[in-house]
Amino acid sequence: MATNRQVKLIARPKPGLFAREDFSIEDASLTEPGAGEIRVKIEVVSLDPAMRGWVNESKSYVKPVPLGGVMRAYSAGIVDASSHPSFAVGDAVQGLLGVQQYAVSNGKGLVKVDLTKAPIERWVGGLGMPGWTAYFGLLDVGEPKEGETVVVSAASGAVGSLVGQIAKIKGCRVVGIAGGPEKCRYVTEELGFDASVDYKAGDLASQLKTACPNGIDVNFENVGGDILDTILLQMNVHGRIALCGLISGYTATEAPPGPKNIRAVLTQRLRMQGLIVFDWADRIPEAIEQLGTWHAEGLLKIREDLQQGGVDAFPDVVNMLYTGSNNGKLVLKV
Ligand SMILES: NC(=O)c1ccc[n+]([C@@H]2O[C@H](COP(=O)([O-])OP(=O)(O)OC[C@H]3O[C@@H](n4cnc5c(N)ncnc54)[C@H](OP(=O)(O)O)[C@@H]3O)[C@@H](O)[C@H]2O)c1
Repeated sequence: MATNRQVKLIARPKPGLFAREDFSIEDASLTEPGAGEIRVKIEVVSLDPAMRGWVNESKSYVKPVPLGGVMRAYSAGIVDASSHPSFAVGDAVQGLLGVQQYAVSNGKGLVKVDLTKAPIERWVGGLGMPGWTAYFGLLDVGEPKEGETVVVSAASGAVGSLVGQIAKIKGCRVVGIAGGPEKCRYVTEELGFDASVDYKAGDLASQLKTACPNGIDVNFENVGGDILDTILLQMNVHGRIALCGLISGYTATEAPPGPKNIRAVLTQRLRMQGLIVFDWADRIPEAIEQLGTWHAEGLLKIREDLQQGGVDAFPDVVNMLYTGSNNGKLVLKV
């Protein structure tokens, strides 16, 4: 009998990295789609930093993954059975389909993707949710203007790499913050950022000052902690901070300290605004269209870090995000 291998959350993780014991990996029987439903054979699962927050019970922008439930994830695959008028067998789709081999869906929230334009893993990466986050977060929240200086942290990753390249398209000076010489080389030499700063090399403040001689107008913040504190002191008057992520705190075992330099928000009249990509759900087609056009024109370089091992590898591979071991968008092949 055909089965569906699934990763289920069975315990709320203790502070720190995910543990294997937080999950159970089980074979369920394969279900047929009902009327108005489809079944998707999943090919790739997107591993996203937000997963560490989705399993906690604290107040957030989505409900926590329930204990005993399939782990939430953006996944992409091919429709292999359909009783839905808008989806045919063979369509490629992506959406919140979970960490499993097959998903049954009523189609709500799914996006059809064109595999002649990009491989399936890219549709959960630079052309998928992380790309939409970069696009809307930078343009609608950061509001960069030509000639301004944009600083982005976690610059070599899924979101950061797109933020920097979009800011370049908009005529900005772009500085990326990343961990280690190889990631820094990647953002300048391969992605075309104007400068990079290695936060692991020490004296972040003076490195940043050298890279941003005219101060910082827009900060697209993915990391928080010391990086945000250092940036705050170099922001220009009326600068904008698009607060996209705080990954340095996601696996912290003690509550991270608040920004020490929050006073800069007052003295420099900064706007610091949080963003959640779900808020632009009704404009996703615009992001897909624009990112797809830039990608086809060769203006966006996108890379995936495609990991093998199927859904069984999920509990180990997801932790690569919080140790910085990924190089590009982290995706698990199913
Ligand atoms: N608000 C939204 O709607 C939304 C949507 C998607 C993503 N996000 C956020 O965007 C950020 C980036 O996500 P992504 O998917 O693009 O991941 P990613 O950048 O591809 O991977 C995560 C990277 O974060 C960096 N990192 C991890 N721990 C760190 C630490 N303690 N200090 C400094 N850097 C650290 C590492 O890069 P280095 O090796 O360079 O340190 C790591 O490779 C995350 O904060 C995520 O939560 C937000």
